[in-house]
Formats: sequence, structure tokens, C-alpha cells
Amino acid sequence: TTQFDGVIAIDGPSGSGKSSVSRRLATELGAACLDTGAMYRAVTLAVMRSGVSLSDTATIMKVIEGTRFEFGTNPADRYTRIDDVLVDADIRGPEVTGQVSAVSAVPEVRKYLITAQREIIAAAEHGIVVEGRDIGEVVAPDADLKIYLTADPAERARRRSSQDGSDLAATAADIKRRDTADAKTTRPHDAAPGAVVVDTTHLDLDQVLTALHELIAHGGTA
Ligand code: DC
Repeated sequence: TTQFDGVIAIDGPSGSGKSSVSRRLATELGAACLDTGAMYRAVTLAVMRSGVSLSDTATIMKVIEGTRFEFGTNPADRYTRIDDVLVDADIRGPEVTGQVSAVSAVPEVRKYLITAQREIIAAAEHGIVVEGRDIGEVVAPDADLKIYLTADPAERARRRSSQDGSDLAATAADIKRRDTADAKTTRPHDAAPGAVVVDTTHLDLDQVLTALHELIAHGGTA
């Protein structure tokens, strides 16, 4: 395997394959990995459970600051905990998916999570693969390699629904809705400056990993 000891940013829209790609790349590099989408989802779940109105920013921030979030960054054992309880299934359910774009749009929430993300990145000792929407542009603009992973919307919907068994048409509609909602906050349809675009529409996981290892070996230039 390629030796790499830096920061790799993997951005892209929902269903582009970021999670599987990031986890496998981190495993093969012996690096940590951070799913920033899970962080937005966990914060959203905590806010929803508290019953606070999404328009009440001050109270939202009190809830978040009073909650203990933990994000496991070992690719062999990724987990998300809220106040010591595992919430990985809950944060990927339809309720959180329906609200996460709105919570992610609150500037104070982003500021809070971006600070937390930078701390986790700084603490990584053997490199880290960070996946999200704004990693290459905002969270880690100095990343050693920036990847923009994308795929046709129909293919993204097909992957999502074969992964979680959801209805294809409903998944396609949900991906379209989230693309539009997320575009108001981050730029899920644009690659960060210096990012290499990898279109995975016609690539399987092995082929994507081969392409990424080549980019790492060549110092991040296409
Ligand atoms: O990657 P995901 O589907 O788990 O992300 C969930 C939501 O979190 C997504 O709809 C937008 C938001 N998000 C964000 O705004 N910034 C990030 N870096 C990651 C996710």
C-alpha cells in the first residue's frame, strides 16, 4: 500500500460513494477517517430530541454545547455517540435525513462543527481522510489531496436504494431535494479549488480506489 501521512479531503454530493471510498482508503493507508456528515446528523438528532424550534439559534446552541458528542475515527470501528449512547442507526434514519440540511444551514452550528473537525484533524497522528461537502474549501483548505467525488443523480439514487433497501423513486426525489437544500449552504456541485474531480458513475469501488492511490502516488495532480 501507498504510504501517506497527511490530510485527504473527499467532498461530494449525497450518494456519490464518499463513505465507502473514504473508509476503504483510510484502511488501506493506515489512516484515520472522519465522516463530517455524521457530525451534522448527530447534532441534528440531539436538537430534534430536545424539541427546540429550528429557528431558535441561541437555544439550539445551548442544546449542542450541553451534549457530549463522540466520533470514532478508526475506519474499522466508526461510531457516533451522543451522551455515551451509540446513535449510528438513528442518525441515518429518514427523520434526521429530512432535517439535517436545515440544521446544517445554521451558521453557528457550522462554526461549532468546523472547529471540532479541525481539532480532530490536528489530533490525527497517521493521516486522516475527511469526507463532507466543504472540507477542501473551508475545513481543510491546506489538505494534501482534495478529491471531488461525484456521480450522475440516477446512479447515486440507485446506489443509495440498493444499500438501504429504500424505494428507488423516493430515494431519487430525496437526493434531489437534499442537493438543492445543501447547495444553499455548501457547494455540493462544485469542486474546491485544487480538487481532482473523480466521476464514479461508471466506476466500481475497486476502480475508484485505484484512481485515488494513483493520485496519492503522483502528489495529487491528475
Ligand atoms: O454526507 P451526509 O449525507 O451524511 O451528510 C448529511 C448532511 O449534512 C448533508 O445533507 C449536508 C450536511 N453536511 C454539511 O453541510 N457539511 C458537511 N461537511 C457534511 C455534511
